[in-house]
Amino acid sequence: MSERSGRRQGRPPAFSYLAQKSGLLFRRPVAPQLCCEQVPLSQLAERFGTPLYVYSASAIRERVRAFERAFVTVSHTICYAVKANSNLSVLRLLAKMGCGFDVVSGGELERVQHVIKSTSSSVVFSGVGKTQAEIEEALKAGVLLFNVESESELRSLSECTTRLKKTARIAIRVNPNVAAETHAYVSTGTQQHKFGVPINRARWLYAQAASVKRLTVAGVSVHIGSQITENKPFATSMERVADLVKDLRADGHKIDFVDAGGGLGIDYRGASSSDFAAFVAEYADAVLRPLRGLKVHVLLEPGRSIVGPAGTLLTRAIYKKTNGNKTFVVVDAAMNDLIRPALYQAYHEIIPVTYAGRPQETVDVVGPVCESGDFFAHDRELPETSEGDLLAILDAGAYGMVQASNYNTRPRPAEVLVDGKIAKVVRRRETVADLLKHET
Ligand code: LLP
Repeated sequence: MSERSGRRQGRPPAFSYLAQKSGLLFRRPVAPQLCCEQVPLSQLAERFGTPLYVYSASAIRERVRAFERAFVTVSHTICYAVKANSNLSVLRLLAKMGCGFDVVSGGELERVQHVIKSTSSSVVFSGVGKTQAEIEEALKAGVLLFNVESESELRSLSECTTRLKKTARIAIRVNPNVAAETHAYVSTGTQQHKFGVPINRARWLYAQAASVKRLTVAGVSVHIGSQITENKPFATSMERVADLVKDLRADGHKIDFVDAGGGLGIDYRGASSSDFAAFVAEYADAVLRPLRGLKVHVLLEPGRSIVGPAGTLLTRAIYKKTNGNKTFVVVDAAMNDLIRPALYQAYHEIIPVTYAGRPQETVDVVGPVCESGDFFAHDRELPETSEGDLLAILDAGAYGMVQASNYNTRPRPAEVLVDGKIAKVVRRRETVADLLKHET
């Protein structure tokens, strides 16, 4: 069966086809070009080469604003999940908008410290396997909240606070046992998963935490998975969290924060940015309704929904070949650059950079890496592609570059951030020399 075609005409304001001025000499009409904001992607390919990650600053801002508007009725902080796209310039842009951050490693914390002066009011530290070294780093940084995931982690945190003579505010990440419809690898909210403390054991662990001198119980945290497009699981898990908050208060704990985690999905099959505001508003309703009257400060950890549709992976067709009745477009990007199709069978829309009324054909879009898992699309209907054409793999702003590797000794792509008419390289292309320099 063929996958749905990429006939859509762009995704304003991030990526859309804009008419181009015709050539002066012969006044031939020039086909509309896919642009990131006001910059044609073909120009970026010329200047910076391919494969290339391209991000739209305006799209990121617009998505943050949609979140802000949706949660305006409550005291809240957007703690952007750094793992989704950790480029320093992206983090800086988000910090300028007043976002905090959710980090899951010492490395992510260091990135965040690069872009903001103080982590004390806006950085939460999540993750199921925080090492002592990472905990110490976070204590020294004075993060807002540790999301503790187990009894052992609580012990580890307690030891570190004693050693460093520091205090820590904690939330326990509870596992609400709510299944969310998403890919098995990114579902985290049931008891089959390694994440969190079973919600029915949480009160006991809070009592333990409260007895530790340097720990301050301050909140409850939950995260049930990623790429969730239905609100029901968010609402159900929040109802369970709200009940727990009431129980904990009855037990004498001071619960000021509820960290609702991230997980809001995007429409990889063709979201328009104008729907996003309504979509986030519904999500906000699902999250906030159960919390009504509890007077907590709500922390949100969105990642994908902020940066996903704001990025594309630009690639060039190198070869076209047929095997039997299959046609393959071999592009210069590969699974090492964007692993989501190979790892999660993820769908990413692919559209040509030059818009033209060409007939459709059914092709596999594949990379040059030596395995059949290296694909971007199977049996996809696309406008006829020729060798040398540029293609845009859409919705690659989240979990794209951050999951890139050097498999096949392929240097990772450059990243470009576009803001209006201005395009800046925010990470230069890696070279093979960069890769070899770590080896003896
Ligand atoms: N908070 C916590 C504790 C998380 O584990 C995650 C994502 C988030 C927030 C952000 O979730 P988001 O809003 O982005 O859905 N590599 C996979 C996604 C892994 C998500 C891991 N945790 C992918 O490419 O689909």
